[in-house]
Amino acid sequence: MTREEKSVPVHCAIIMDGNGRWARKRMLPRILGHRAGASALVRIVRAAAERGIRYLSIYAFSTENWKRPKTEVLGLMALFRSYARRKVQELAKENVRLRIAGRIDLFPQDLRDLLEYAQKETSFENPRMTLIACLNYGGRQEILDAFRRIREEGYDRELDEEAFRRYLYLPDIPDPDLIIRTSGEMRLSNFWLWQASYSELYFSESLWPDFDENELDKALSAFSKRERRYGNVQLGTS
Ligand code: FPP
Repeated sequence: MTREEKSVPVHCAIIMDGNGRWARKRMLPRILGHRAGASALVRIVRAAAERGIRYLSIYAFSTENWKRPKTEVLGLMALFRSYARRKVQELAKENVRLRIAGRIDLFPQDLRDLLEYAQKETSFENPRMTLIACLNYGGRQEILDAFRRIREEGYDRELDEEAFRRYLYLPDIPDPDLIIRTSGEMRLSNFWLWQASYSELYFSESLWPDFDENELDKALSAFSKRERRYGNVQLGTS
């Protein structure tokens, strides 16, 4: 294994931003930007698996996205439906496991059924990669949901980080090593708030539909040069 391969993030998370601006630049409706974004996602899922990333998480719909115009929200739901329907077999063939993080109980029932089916069909024990779709996801909501469950259970033991983590949506998924956000915005926007404590952040000027394998490689190369200290001092210095 080369040095470069060794420093591939185990979990890479992506905030896919800029679909609207991509569409506006072409005088197209926003939903066509999301469609182009979905095609970009297919390419990046394949590329991420090829590069040895074990967990790829994508912020596809935030708890705040309900505030968008109704037509856009309905268009996004239709897009999720269509991908959940059409891409399950492809994911299964590639040995990619799909998992969902977020309150999909607030999604239409037929979409929930499709997402449940897609997760079941790809529930490999040893997947090549796990794709985590964050849908109706919010970091603050996830932390609140954890607290609610802890309270409902009447939890009365010592509550440390490890114990708390068990109440998050996907406690077995390692924290993101690298979080990429496209379109030049430099915020987390409520993504993986608990899990992002020590994530490396990378911001790309590309709008999400333009983000390709080459852009991914640039992000991975920048990551491989980062020195992760987790609050410790730099090793090998006085
Ligand atoms: C942000 O761009 C993008 C989203 C809110 C939606 C992301 C969804 C996809 C890429 C669709 C594909 C997903 C799946 C799971 C099939 P924006 O609309 O905020 O862009 P803007 O900031 O330029 O307006």
